[in-house]
Amino acid sequence: MDLEDTAARLGVPVEDVERVHRLAGDRPSAPLPAKADAPAILDRLGVRPDDAAEIMAGWPDADSPLWTPELRWLLDRSIALVRADLGGHGWLVPGPALPRERGLAWRHLYGYAYLALVGVVRAYHRDHGIADTVSWVTLADLGRNLAVDRRMRGEGWPVMQSWLTLHVRGGLYELGRLQHQRGDAGTIDLHIPDAGPLTPEAVEASLDEAREFFPRHFPDERYTAFACGSWLLDPQLREYLPEDSNIVRFQRRFELEPYEEPDGLDGDVEVLRFVFRTLTTPLDQLPRGTVLQRAVVDHLKAGRHWQWRRGRFPIPPRSTV
Ligand SMILES: CC(C)(COP(=O)(O)OP(=O)(O)OC[C@H]1O[C@@H](n2cnc3c(N)ncnc32)[C@H](O)[C@@H]1OP(=O)(O)O)[C@@H](O)C(=O)NCCC(=O)NCCS
Repeated sequence: MDLEDTAARLGVPVEDVERVHRLAGDRPSAPLPAKADAPAILDRLGVRPDDAAEIMAGWPDADSPLWTPELRWLLDRSIALVRADLGGHGWLVPGPALPRERGLAWRHLYGYAYLALVGVVRAYHRDHGIADTVSWVTLADLGRNLAVDRRMRGEGWPVMQSWLTLHVRGGLYELGRLQHQRGDAGTIDLHIPDAGPLTPEAVEASLDEAREFFPRHFPDERYTAFACGSWLLDPQLREYLPEDSNIVRFQRRFELEPYEEPDGLDGDVEVLRFVFRTLTTPLDQLPRGTVLQRAVVDHLKAGRHWQWRRGRFPIPPRSTV
């Protein structure tokens, strides 16, 4: 197989194709579900009707003209690449960021990979005794991300395609309000899905659930702290938000690590991503409907910057997991 030619046809750097080739090797892929079953599965995965319709229309049928040999190769090897790390819980790039405007196969390739991996991770969940409800709620983050992708007109997808590999490798679980990512060094990493207000009660209930969940389902792993990396932990937000806002109350749980200059994650970009769901709209055209939206724009217009911060807090000793 000619990797240079494949890269050229895919419109991506050859190094990205070499990486897929290297990591996937000839490891096993996994089949997509039967097309007839797909609508019901997409529904369980929280995929909205407009996204589901696109996914069905671009389905990689054996005779589909939308699927060139290079796209079929990438789909198959990307599934193998992610599957090879089943049980892993680090961020994983499943393959090159594609020129998604070229068509439905290009647009949803990593979505089809996710569908193929649902069967694989469902078996992994069963092996770990994880309830069906937790399994499906966790996997339904696909639908939420596709809806955000639509809102963001594709701008956010390169991050999402890596993010969604956590779910299908068994690295992350949605327990109530928060998503909990298994981590190294005894740390559970918390993520906050876009799913309504972040009330202290909902956060507490989710943390309680995690304290039970991890020792039961991953008895060989020992967790002593919750951690989080987020724009939500930027202490500058307190200059603008009331003390009783959910974000400020969430912040109070954490002991912050010292601020480091961004090494990849730019606070300004992440704030725009999560508060406005756009990375390119000029500041003057952004909505000013909430106190946070006004704060974000005024802060940036003043020449200041937002910070991506990490913090942690111990899991109380009596219930150390
Ligand atoms: C985290 C989140 C649930 C907090 O929302 P919340 O519980 O309403 O937070 P607060 O009570 O602190 O809100 C304070 C103010 O900021 C506004 N606000 C909070 N998050 C907002 C957001 N993402 N976009 C716009 N406004 C927001 C609220 O509407 C409120 O303003 P108002 O009084 O004028 O209505 C919300 O920001 C969200 O859904 N974010 C997307 C997911 C995310 O950022 N995850 C973390 C990724 S690292």
